[in-house]
Amino acid sequence: MKVIETCFEMAALCRAAERPLGLVPTMGALHDGHLSLTRRARADNATMAASLFVNPTQFGPHEDFGSYPRRLVRDLELLAAQGADLVLAPPPEEIYPAGFDTWIEPGAAAEGMEGAARPGHFRGVATVVAKLFGIVRPDRAYFGQKDGQQVAVIRKMTADLNLGVEVVTMPTVREADGLALSSRNAYLTPEERMAAPVVYRALRAAESQWQAGERDAERLRAAALAVLQGEPLVESVDYVSVVDGDTMAAVDTVTGGRRVMVAAAARVGAVRLIDNVVLG
Ligand code: PAF
Repeated sequence: MKVIETCFEMAALCRAAERPLGLVPTMGALHDGHLSLTRRARADNATMAASLFVNPTQFGPHEDFGSYPRRLVRDLELLAAQGADLVLAPPPEEIYPAGFDTWIEPGAAAEGMEGAARPGHFRGVATVVAKLFGIVRPDRAYFGQKDGQQVAVIRKMTADLNLGVEVVTMPTVREADGLALSSRNAYLTPEERMAAPVVYRALRAAESQWQAGERDAERLRAAALAVLQGEPLVESVDYVSVVDGDTMAAVDTVTGGRRVMVAAAARVGAVRLIDNVVLG
């Protein structure tokens, strides 16, 4: 496994690499969710590349960029064990050199939910992913359904800009009690960790209503919200949304033939948890 710090060297090695080439973009602090992506990328491709880069431009000014977990040595061990061939682990100035001034502005898919709660977040995500696609030129790139809106934004950008990358989405990996794996779970106190699966329970409540025949999005939302509001350690609920799984547009009635996602973001203690389920 080669660990590379510069875009120039990564691009050269990727150009010379055997195809197909699969890329797993990450911000490090790898967990089993990431490893499900690398496992799939390894199985699907002749070359498996990954990136470890805590992207400053997708964090708001009051968010956790400074304290985001950084575990380079452990991450590299995990990637080596997964059979990665190439790992890009650049310093920030390599991705954003002085004078960097070109941005991807995603459209409607980025407006609601995370986009509304975290202004500028998806502009940062889309820009860094476009850059990674430009450096690595992968045939496929792998993302987790846990960040369902991120996947929709990246898919749309990839199609709209003809980036020629197959975007592969892998199912959310969960703890035994349903909590979706996330690098930020490490911030939870033991008490908050016990309460945190409430987000998935809330989404499952909406899903059960849907399975029982409820098609009204507002009632599905209300079912999830009631579960979240019943947990004293939930400090606030940013949103519970019922949206089209591809466009992220709000849905009033869940009709057949359409992929619908129920998504939620809630704060448990100081930690903002996000999760989603796809109906059907
Ligand atoms: O999902 C993440 O870890 C990040 O948003 C990504 C896609 C690596 C871009 O920084």
